[in-house]
Amino acid sequence: MADDDQRALLSGQAANNQEEEAELQLRPQTLGEYIGQSKIKHELQIYIKAAREREEALDHVLLYGPPGLGKTTLAMVIAHEMHVGIKTTSGPAIEKAGDLVALLNELQAGDVLFIDEIHRLPKPVEEMLYSAMEDFYIDIVVGEGPTAHPVHFPLPPFTLIGATTRAGMLSAPLRDRFGIVAHMNYYRTDELEKIIFRSAKIFDTSISQEGAHELARRSRGTPRIANRLLKRVRDFAQVAGKKQIDEDSVSQALQLLQVDDQGLDEVDRKLLQTMIDYYNGGPVGLKTIAANIGEETNTIEEMYEPYLLQIGYLSRTPRGRKVTPAGYAHLGIDFPENH
Ligand code: ADE
Repeated sequence: MADDDQRALLSGQAANNQEEEAELQLRPQTLGEYIGQSKIKHELQIYIKAAREREEALDHVLLYGPPGLGKTTLAMVIAHEMHVGIKTTSGPAIEKAGDLVALLNELQAGDVLFIDEIHRLPKPVEEMLYSAMEDFYIDIVVGEGPTAHPVHFPLPPFTLIGATTRAGMLSAPLRDRFGIVAHMNYYRTDELEKIIFRSAKIFDTSISQEGAHELARRSRGTPRIANRLLKRVRDFAQVAGKKQIDEDSVSQALQLLQVDDQGLDEVDRKLLQTMIDYYNGGPVGLKTIAANIGEETNTIEEMYEPYLLQIGYLSRTPRGRKVTPAGYAHLGIDFPENH
């Protein structure tokens, strides 16, 4: 390989590594660095201080809210602030009780076990968590047939942090075992602006106040979306030869990405448009909408619907979902008289 090629390859790899490092750096490590969710932060500060003073494990924490709001990040921040280790897994990844035993077996006193999508735990695994959470032990059956016998397995005190997009899907016995329940809300525009400035700094790129405001306003209240769009807008500004990302670069890049003035993407608009075109704006059932637009019901319920409900473009009725007058107005369609 020619020296130049080798150098190009190496620098390319270096760039990729840098990018991966930047991703990791984007995650705040302390409550002080974590922007937004001020009510939750304030409460956690108190509970963490109290638990540390008593030299105890923090009570179990349930974080619920739409995807992309920083539930995993917050779990890591909690472990960092508690000065303890963290093991991370997800509901669907734990297939059988033995998988959970293996995870619990690795915990040190005070450690955090983080289970993302905890509403998707298999029932036998969930049931095993009850005694683990409440009294720090599990009973496992060792051996088979006539030699099978229960073994009482004590655990170190630990903190379970569960994250879910759907608090309603947790069984009552599991939900009741969380001492701290935190409902994460969509971020305000000024909070997303701060996150965008912080991320821009980590990416070693510059963005104007107006640019950050416009990007924040169109990020659906969600840091993950803000950070993802920031990367695309940065590419756009760089290719356009701009030293700083300004409002113009944001508008042009978002137009290319088909993210509209309110931050809605193609799927959001298709959902509203289909309901209007084929179902007179509703009420229409979730499964019908899903089949029509070719998305999973879960995806609609967890990723799209919550924000459309939040900004008042959709409403939920006992007979199904309806597009509101504001939803019609956003698509530039007159609200039907007969509604
Ligand atoms: N990056 C993503 N979410 C964040 C948050 N809440 N605070 C700071 N940086 C973030």
